[in-house]
Amino acid sequence: MYKVTVMPSGASLAIDENESLLTALKEAGYYVKSSCGGHASCTDCIVKILTGEDNVNAPGFDELQLIGNVFHITKERLSCQTRLTGDVTIDISNHDLKKDQEKTKSKTASFSKSKSKSKNAVKVRRKDEIEEIKKEREEQWSEKQLKNDEWHKHWEKTDDTKIKRLGGGKRPKEFRTDHIDHERDAILKDEAMKTRVARERYEQQVKQELETKAAAVKEATAKNVETSTDTDFVQPENKRESNPERKSFRKKD
Ligand code: FES
Repeated sequence: MYKVTVMPSGASLAIDENESLLTALKEAGYYVKSSCGGHASCTDCIVKILTGEDNVNAPGFDELQLIGNVFHITKERLSCQTRLTGDVTIDISNHDLKKDQEKTKSKTASFSKSKSKSKNAVKVRRKDEIEEIKKEREEQWSEKQLKNDEWHKHWEKTDDTKIKRLGGGKRPKEFRTDHIDHERDAILKDEAMKTRVARERYEQQVKQELETKAAAVKEATAKNVETSTDTDFVQPENKRESNPERKSFRKKD
């Protein structure tokens, strides 16, 4: 049996080595919050080891998963997983029954409020209330209808508002002509005309020359044909002279 001093009250209790801190504290009448019933899944049962941190068992896998390997810094342990090997002093000041009860109360109240505010919540109304709402809605509907029908009466309007001009209301800018040199342009134009006339003349001249040449050639060929028909045409003999030095590879009979 080991001694556990419980702070902040300063009272002490005896605990068996196989018993967990949580069960021992609960049996002694202390309030320690626990939501999972000592199955190492809620982390609500945390207590602080003030003295005798070497007199507790090493944290198991489940505990390490929940609170990490920082016991040497925080000195906090899950009381449901802690067993003693010596005397210890613990602090359970974070377990306050009143505070927890208030918290749960406020939570349930806010939950019920949010539920009542939600769209799906059904509100029960009296008959006269329903009639009032009906009237109000009918009035709203008729007003809306009147507004919608207003477009029929657009010709009755006497409002002489200005017709908006199309095209963005902007005129195109005038072309700038001050940068044009008219004298220079006239000279260039004249030069271009002269060169064009000269080119045309040259082309005409070349054409005439070619035509006269072609006519002369035609005349000459016509004369040649006439002379050739007068004399007998003799075909030149095209006999190859045999070379006596040349060896013949043909077989002789
Ligand atoms: S009681 Fe839930 S983790 Fe200890």
